[in-house]
Amino acid sequence: MILLNRITLYTLSIFTIMADLRGKVALVSASSSGIGRSTAKVLAANGCSVHIFSSNKDKISKAADYIGSSSGKKVNYSVGSLAVPSDVRRIMDEAKVKTGNIDCLIMNYGDPKVAPFLEISEEDWDFSINMILRSTITMVRGVLPYMLEHGGRVVFITSMTTKQPLQNFSISASLRSAVVSLSKVLSMEYASRGITFNSISQGYFQTPRLESIAEKNSKSLGITVDEAYQKIRNEIPAGRFGDPEEIGHLVSFLCSSDAAYINGANIQIDGGAIRFPF
Ligand SMILES: NC(=O)c1ccc[n+]([C@@H]2O[C@H](COP(=O)([O-])OP(=O)(O)OC[C@H]3O[C@@H](n4cnc5c(N)ncnc54)[C@H](OP(=O)(O)O)[C@@H]3O)[C@@H](O)[C@H]2O)c1
Repeated sequence: MILLNRITLYTLSIFTIMADLRGKVALVSASSSGIGRSTAKVLAANGCSVHIFSSNKDKISKAADYIGSSSGKKVNYSVGSLAVPSDVRRIMDEAKVKTGNIDCLIMNYGDPKVAPFLEISEEDWDFSINMILRSTITMVRGVLPYMLEHGGRVVFITSMTTKQPLQNFSISASLRSAVVSLSKVLSMEYASRGITFNSISQGYFQTPRLESIAEKNSKSLGITVDEAYQKIRNEIPAGRFGDPEEIGHLVSFLCSSDAAYINGANIQIDGGAIRFPF
């Protein structure tokens, strides 16, 4: 009996710390793998209906099946590129038709080019400006009419480069900082309408992208892939990479009613890797 009560209490405590997102709808961009997919998965596990999209049909349909089978919920998806403005507008329309309303907009992005400034062409800049900044503007404009009536949550998943710029990351540092600044302005303009805008600046997370970085570093530095991983891990006080679902839990909390007073923040989640103290 005592054991049963303990189990019941434990189960209850798990439920009380989970974000309750039942009845909410979230649109999550760049979500066929890594951080985007894990975020959509955790949102769905917390009761949210999710609409996901990315540029690769095969990958995004598999991600929808994966999230659907882990959450028991039907997952809608669209196919298109964040870097193509007409795709972004179409996807916003599709998501509204399929879901009826979008309570939470979660903007995640593909990778901007990482290279010394002079090795980045104007076309590379145009691609990333469309993928990061222009898509953000279009998506926020698309969700605001509904949110102005019903309240809402907008979360921008950016990068540690907004707080700790790195060499060769000129696109990431500049465009993602623009998103964080936009988020701050929007948070002030729409706070009275029950809409919050927050950014997340993540450190190193175990995703396919980190795998490709470790492989690239291993080749360029003439070390093994394990050594390349360890070199990055040495930068993280926690001594490990983040699990992308940890970003999903943070996003879920920001989307919950408990987070109503968190607005205009740029929150780091990085195992202590970012040296900037604020
Ligand atoms: N992992 C980290 O440690 C880390 C750290 C800081 C910042 N970040 C940033 O966080 C974001 C997600 O990274 P990740 O590690 O999760 O990488 P990932 O596993 O490679 O996932 C990237 C996602 O973006 C999608 N995508 C790429 N280009 C797209 C486009 N043009 N339009 C729509 N979707 C697109 C990909 O899907 P498709 O291929 O199906 O289009 C995929 O779902 C990236 O912006 C990355 O730079 C990651």
